[in-house]
Amino acid sequence: MNGIAVLAYSGGLDTSCAIAWLKEDYAFEEVVAVLVDVGQEAMFQPAIERGKLAGADDVMLLDRKEAFADEQVAKALLANALYEEKYPLVSALSRPVIAEAVAEVALELGADAVVHGCTGKGNDQLRFELAFKAKYPGVKVIAPLRDRMWTRDAEIAYAEARGIPVEARAESPYSVDDNLFGRAIEAGILEDPWTAPPEEAFLLTGDPSAAPAPTDVVVSFDQGLPVSLDGEELPLYALVGVLNERAGAYGIGRIDMIENRAVGIKSRELYEAPAALALIAAHRALEELVLTKGELVAKRELEPKWAKLVYDGGWFAPVRSAYDAFFAATQELVTGDVRLSLQPGVAVLSGRRSEHALYSESLASYGIGETFPHDAAAGFIGITALETDLVAARKRVQVA
Ligand code: ARG
Repeated sequence: MNGIAVLAYSGGLDTSCAIAWLKEDYAFEEVVAVLVDVGQEAMFQPAIERGKLAGADDVMLLDRKEAFADEQVAKALLANALYEEKYPLVSALSRPVIAEAVAEVALELGADAVVHGCTGKGNDQLRFELAFKAKYPGVKVIAPLRDRMWTRDAEIAYAEARGIPVEARAESPYSVDDNLFGRAIEAGILEDPWTAPPEEAFLLTGDPSAAPAPTDVVVSFDQGLPVSLDGEELPLYALVGVLNERAGAYGIGRIDMIENRAVGIKSRELYEAPAALALIAAHRALEELVLTKGELVAKRELEPKWAKLVYDGGWFAPVRSAYDAFFAATQELVTGDVRLSLQPGVAVLSGRRSEHALYSESLASYGIGETFPHDAAAGFIGITALETDLVAARKRVQVA
């Protein structure tokens, strides 16, 4: 007999069956299922019961919504993180929080193994396992759904034979993962990249063609983080929730992409992340107003590297903290307001202001009263053009 296994439990059919399987096939004496609330759309009570019926000795529900918002979501916003320029890392951000919670429970119980329900084809196995290894050095990791592939029908038969409730309502025809920062939708008919996303695949966003009349929303930032909407201060997790609803009504934040997974395959993925995309656009706009050219150049170079690192499971890598230290150092003066006009399918930037703006109207203006040092311009061109003059003169000699 093995001792204790601690499982990252979602409440779905896969991880419910995994509980029974850990006892029967892997011979664990005790299985503790840890269900982490990161703001997903889920019925926690039935999930807990299902876990118990599957044979879990304990099903723990841990609320990590605020911690997730204040740590992973906040850092992703400071980093303007978009994997392959599009995907705001919704699932990739939640894995470190879930894995850390599981590892904490496992350490406390002196568990013999930690378990996740990922298959061998996705990125999540990488994220879970790197996080487990970082947070519980030397722990044994088990991935039952990678060890043996199940067909859906076999899984249902397995569950039914053990009295594990298979959801009464038909399960989604897609593979869905969600949290407070957004929602990922894949598989089923979406596997054909020529198939248009059906409206029913979306939950957080409405059909843009049925959007209400445009409205403005003012997002205020303090040191790079959004702190209020239209003057109402909100903690980050709540602010994201409110903006998801407001921007989601316009169909803002839908993403349809062919994504390069860490395991070498391309996959077709849909996302809906209204607040994430609106906030990143607003944050970038405020940075443009406040940061120096040098800071912007350096930061924009690092941002996609941060996104790739986190996508590839590197949340607990030292280099991620080093990137974050750099980003944080640039944000001290990124305080101000950004106005977005919410329109069908898009949040259009319509204004920005900050007491720390480097933008100077009197320097930039073409109107009267401007202060640009015009006399200096001719000298500036003369020096800048020295090399161009030399190259041109050399050509003339060569032609002659
Ligand atoms: N491809 C995305 C990622 O790797 C989303 C994965 C979400 N999982 C799911 N079962 N839909 O971050």
